[in-house]
Amino acid sequence: MAMQDLYEIAEAIVADGKGILAADESDSTIKKRFDSIGLESTEDARRAYRDLLFTTAGAEEYVSGVILFDETIRQSALDGTPFPKLLQGKGVIPGIKVDKGAKPLALTDGETITEGLDGLRERLAEYHELGARFAKWRATYTIGGGKPSEYCVWTNAHALARYAALCQEAGIVPIVEPEVLQDGTHTLEESATATGRVLQALYTELHDQRVDYRGTLLKPNMVLSGYEASSRAGVDEVADATLEVFYKHVPASVPGIVFLSGGQSDEDATAHLNAMNRRGPHPWKLSFSYGRALQAPALKAWGGKPENVEAGKRAYYHRAKMNAAAATGVYAPEMEREAAGVA
Ligand code: 13P
Repeated sequence: MAMQDLYEIAEAIVADGKGILAADESDSTIKKRFDSIGLESTEDARRAYRDLLFTTAGAEEYVSGVILFDETIRQSALDGTPFPKLLQGKGVIPGIKVDKGAKPLALTDGETITEGLDGLRERLAEYHELGARFAKWRATYTIGGGKPSEYCVWTNAHALARYAALCQEAGIVPIVEPEVLQDGTHTLEESATATGRVLQALYTELHDQRVDYRGTLLKPNMVLSGYEASSRAGVDEVADATLEVFYKHVPASVPGIVFLSGGQSDEDATAHLNAMNRRGPHPWKLSFSYGRALQAPALKAWGGKPENVEAGKRAYYHRAKMNAAAATGVYAPEMEREAAGVA
C-alpha cells in the first residue's frame, strides 16, 4: 500500500469546510436513539433512517465522509443501491467502525478497554473490498477518583496503535478516537490534564508501532468542564483550553483533528469548533466527526414517519452546513435562523 494514497484520503476528508458524519451507531446505540422518538429498532427502520441521511441532496458539499456500522456497509438504500456505492456516487468517502466496543478492563474499578483486534486484518480486507477507505476505533476514559489510571491510558493507547497499524497495512486511513468522557463534575483543568495524558500515550504508541501520522486522523473530545460541574467554562475558555492541549501533544504532521460531539448540544458543538478555527491557522485542520450533534434535530424532525422524511433531511442539511461553516471559522449564531420551517 502506497502511503501516498493514505495521505490523500486523509487530506480529502478534511478538505476546507468539510467534515464527517458519524452514522456508525451500534445496534444497542441506535436502539437508544430510536427509543427517544418511540420507534422500534428494526432492520428496515435503520435502513430508512440511514437512507434519509445519506440521500440528503447537497449534504455532500459539507460532508466528505460517513462512518458506517457493519450492518449498514452491507445494506442497500431504499432504491436498491448499496449504501457505500450511493455515497461514492456523491463523492463521499465511506468509512467503517471496526472496534467491538469498550469492555470492562480487568482489575480496575469500572475502567474500559476497547476490544476488536482479533481477526481485524481479515475484517479490514473485507471492508476495503466493500468500499471503506477509512475506519474508526473508539477508546473511552472517565475522569475522577484517580481515573483515568495509567494502566487504562496505556493499554488503550497500545490497542489504538495496533488497530492503526493494521489499517495502514490494509490501505485504510485509521481514525484514532480516544474519548475522555465529559460527564461528571470535573473542572476544565482536570479535563485538560486527562486529555493531555491520553494523547501523549497515544502518540508514543503510534510512533513505536510504526504508524505514519500523516496517514491518520485524530478524533478526540473537546476539553470541557464536566456536564454536571457547578460552574462551566464558556466558549472562549473551551477553545483556548482545547487548543492548548493539542498544541502540546498532537504532532504537526497529523493532517486533521475531527472532533466528536460527545453529548454537547448541537449549537455548543458548532460554536466550540468555530471558536477554535477563528484562532487559526493551525498546523492541522480542525473539523467535525459528529454523531449526535449532526443527527439529533433530523431524528426528531423525522420521528420515524415517512411523511416527515423531507423535514428530517432539511434538519440534517442545516446542521451539516452550520458545522461546515464552523470548520472554517465563519459560523455565526444568526445563521441558525436559516432553519426556518424545520424546528
Ligand atoms: P457523538 O458526536 O455523538 O459523540 O458521536 C461521535 C462518535 O462517533 C462517537 O464514537
